[in-house]
Amino acid sequence: TEATLVVDSRFTIAPLDPRLFGSFVEHMGRAVYTGLFEPGHPAADDNGFRTDVLALTRELGVTVVRYPGGNFVSGYRWEDGVGPVGSRPARLDLAWRQIESNRFGLDEFVRWARLAGVEPMMAVNLGTRGVQEACDVLEYANHPGGTRLSDQRIANGAADPHGIRLWCLGNELDGDWQIGQKTAHEYGRLANETGKAMRLVDPDIELVLCGSSGSAMPTFGRWEAVALEAAYDVVDYISLHAYYEERDGDLASFLASPVDMDGFISSVVATADHVRAVLRKQKKIMLAFDEWNVWYMSRMASAPDWRHAPPLAEDPYTAADAVVVGGCLITLLRHADRVRIGCLAQLVNTIAPIRTEAGGPAWRQSTFHPFALTALHARGTVLRMEITAPDVSTEVHGSVPVVDAVATHDEESGRLAVFCVNRGTAASVPVRVHLSAFGPLRVAVATVLGGGDPHACNSSSTEQVQPQELCDVQVDGQELRFVLPPVCWAVVVLR
Ligand code: AHR
Repeated sequence: TEATLVVDSRFTIAPLDPRLFGSFVEHMGRAVYTGLFEPGHPAADDNGFRTDVLALTRELGVTVVRYPGGNFVSGYRWEDGVGPVGSRPARLDLAWRQIESNRFGLDEFVRWARLAGVEPMMAVNLGTRGVQEACDVLEYANHPGGTRLSDQRIANGAADPHGIRLWCLGNELDGDWQIGQKTAHEYGRLANETGKAMRLVDPDIELVLCGSSGSAMPTFGRWEAVALEAAYDVVDYISLHAYYEERDGDLASFLASPVDMDGFISSVVATADHVRAVLRKQKKIMLAFDEWNVWYMSRMASAPDWRHAPPLAEDPYTAADAVVVGGCLITLLRHADRVRIGCLAQLVNTIAPIRTEAGGPAWRQSTFHPFALTALHARGTVLRMEITAPDVSTEVHGSVPVVDAVATHDEESGRLAVFCVNRGTAASVPVRVHLSAFGPLRVAVATVLGGGDPHACNSSSTEQVQPQELCDVQVDGQELRFVLPPVCWAVVVLR
């Protein structure tokens, strides 16, 4: 019933890329309007940005934010969202059947991102548009000046180029729900030509090719191979998307969802490396897991049509959901050698760790905490842990080890952080960690989330799910010992 973990400073996976702690803001529901942007709110600044949301975004430790979609981007005209607000058109957003006012657009997003201290990651529309519009938005954003589009940006108040480095070549174009769905071949060709031209506008950009919208897609695997064969030279990353939810009360399978994420990543790495071999390339394609989260999609009620910013997919998250989010972060860290970008989808209100009430408070969902604590404590080099633990059997994922864990080691400060989950629903699990080649260490932080009612939830008035101190953590020479209660996520930092 005990779990034994071994960690050694030589078990290195890769230096941690801070971009693993990214998020996503789409024009969907109340993510933008009454989420991060609400002119007239008591906490709004002169831009109309909610400073309470900005403060929570900084506290969350988010490093990069993808924008403006998502499905939304596949019908979006970026130029509608720039220039004098009074002359911006209201449009039908066909993806979510909402009205888009365009009061918030590219320049507002970049200004917001700077204030939040995050790197902007833009997606271009390859659903209804193509090479020219992608080059246009890039020229508008990044070209210093002296051309029609760059001068337009300057006239709109941004004298300096936005310098956006990360660009996604469309969104989920394999999905039949996507406006402008394509075959892998059509998409690969379009992505290649778009990427090639965008690099002529700005050679310093990094490009993300759309992978499948999920590993359950009928074209998964083939899509990646075909699109990569067409666009290998121009792209740096291929994207992955995954959403998990508890189905039919099967908590055990739900808690093991990161096992699925793990296999998904390995399959995409294998596919990308297969294409590398076939094409005889030196370059390795990295992975951008640019949409992942718990999302109760099966319970999603569609909002009435053609409203501006109606509530949509505002899932209330439980302690168990937070444990799954923490587990997914462990999985992403374990693949830090290939997964270089991760985006928790999304940031505010829509499937989000931060919630707001229009005109009211902003508050932290349960899932806020494992993200914020991982972003805070993960530093330096990611280290693999050898895990020996009893199995739990699950309907969906078979037998899986009850404990999962990963570590980071910051050579500069000497801090060793161990992130772990107990995905068992019944019993506490005593954990022994053998620490090899680190020298003397003592406990600096020991925090646990969960361990009580797995379905406890936060709201604007109660924070039932909050980090607690993990008690009785002992370090004895080269051994660290603690006990993980059922359905919990924990971090122990030693130094
Ligand atoms: O994040 C919500 C939606 O999920 C995005 O618009 C889409 O890309 C994905 O299917």
